[in-house]
This record gives sequence, structure tokens and C-alpha cells, in this order.
Amino acid sequence: MKILMVCLGNICRSPLAEGIMKDKLKKYNLSWEVDSAGTSGWHQGELPDSRSIQIASQNGIDITDQRSRLFVEEDFDRFDLIVAMDSSNYSNILSMAKNSLQNEKLELLMNFAYPDQNMAIPDPYYDGGFQKVFEMISEAAEAIIQKHMKE
Ligand code: 4NP
Repeated sequence: MKILMVCLGNICRSPLAEGIMKDKLKKYNLSWEVDSAGTSGWHQGELPDSRSIQIASQNGIDITDQRSRLFVEEDFDRFDLIVAMDSSNYSNILSMAKNSLQNEKLELLMNFAYPDQNMAIPDPYYDGGFQKVFEMISEAAEAIIQKHMKE
């Protein structure tokens, strides 16, 4: 399984999603591939936001090897599952999809934990709330593993 986590800047939410997912996969002994990207290139090449680094570190996860990158069309082919943090990321990615196979790879993260509710991981860049973001992502990452580990 190859999973790409996507948010707007790829510095707050999706780097946490990548780090949390990799941490859980280690615990489950699963060798899936996980990466993250942003629908904007505003922070390309940058480290994750210091608040994401901190909340990850408090939970025993090091995300300082990550650098922000832009979501690109080729990602539809490279990954099995493309996971958007909110509906804005979702529609931006969907607008780049070329066919139904690509459309079907896209899912909203919280729908793995709460199907069909279309809940967003709130953007914490201006308003904070990194603890809540961490907890929501953890819950949904666990649900992704439970859904796909038997495949
Ligand atoms: P992210 O958060 O999408 O979770 O990485 C943001 C990061 C940067 C900006 C907005 C959201 N920004 O406006 O630069």
C-alpha cells in the first residue's frame, strides 16, 4: 500500500499525518510507503512547522526529516491512496484528476474514522489546535490501517 497525505502547505497537518502513519505502521510491522505533499507550493523545501515538530516530538515521533513539496499529477500514479485533510484540499486534488481511477484513489482523511461525515482536519496554521489535530489524525490513521491491513 502506498499512501500520500495531502494538505495545503505540507508543513502542518500532512507532515503530522505522514509521521503518525509511519509510526503506527512500524508498530503493526507493515511495510507500506507513506509520503506527504501540499496543494500549494508556498512552503516548498521547508521543514514542518515548529508546532507540528513539537507535538510530534511530545508523542515520540520525529518528523524533522520531512521537507514540504507540491502535489503533482504523477502522484496519482505513484500512490494507491491519496488522503486529503479537508474539503478544499480534496477539491483541489480532484480538479487535477484525469479519470475515474484517479478520482477513486482520493479520500478525505476523517471519513476513514467517520464514514460519509466529511469532517475536516481543521487548518491549525493561524488558529493553533495542534493537539486536537494530532488526535484526530491518529484516530483516522488507525482506521486506515484497520481497513487495509488485511489486503
Ligand atoms: P497545512 O497548514 O496546510 O496544514 O500545512 C498551512 C500552512 C501554511 C499556510 C496555510 C495552512 N499558509 O497560508 O501559508
